Amino acid sequence: MKIAVFASGNGSNFQALVDYFRENKLPDTFEWLFCDQPNAFVLERAEKLHVPFHFFSPKEFSSKREYEEKILEILVEKEIELIVLAGYMRIIGPTLLNAYESRIINIHPSLLPDFPGLHGIRDAFAAEVKETGITIHYIDKGIDTGPIIHQETIEITKEDTLDSLEAKIHQIEHQTYPKIIEAVIKEMQKVEEEKND
Ligand code: GRF
Repeated sequence: MKIAVFASGNGSNFQALVDYFRENKLPDTFEWLFCDQPNAFVLERAEKLHVPFHFFSPKEFSSKREYEEKILEILVEKEIELIVLAGYMRIIGPTLLNAYESRIINIHPSLLPDFPGLHGIRDAFAAEVKETGITIHYIDKGIDTGPIIHQETIEITKEDTLDSLEAKIHQIEHQTYPKIIEAVIKEMQKVEEEKND
């Protein structure tokens, strides 16, 4: 399966995904990295990993629709079948949602529906909850509301600082996201095969 990753920042999850699929010699390939920020570190990672990439921002277009139409044009040209969001800090609009229904997956650093939005880790830490975690889910038109695929729980101990909690969350993300994407792909292929039988 041909996969695209969308990211806006550091790209540690993008790196974990590509490393895992390559180390395990999985047949699925990361064909494209799209980034909406010109200076994001994820672009350096893509270059080193030899994953083709583009970056452009909605500011360069007269509407979000036109921005997403440009992205869609590249997705179609590259025959991308699955979009994996890894720290992509924008809401996916109807242009991409309609074209990739149930084929856009996101990772969020909290146990949704708790602490949606931009600061899932910080908000859980500030709320002094005893546990938080990560959620992998399909994208729908809401913010962090799509159907949940998988969650992992992490305890917040008295010794935890925001930094240590962030480190724990990222470690679990890197361990979990690639395996869940692998499982989702297998499931998609099974459904496809059953349809063709
Ligand atoms: C991750 O914590 C992810 O859950 C959230 O954005 C962060 C991206 O980190 N959606 P990175 O860019 O993959 O290092």
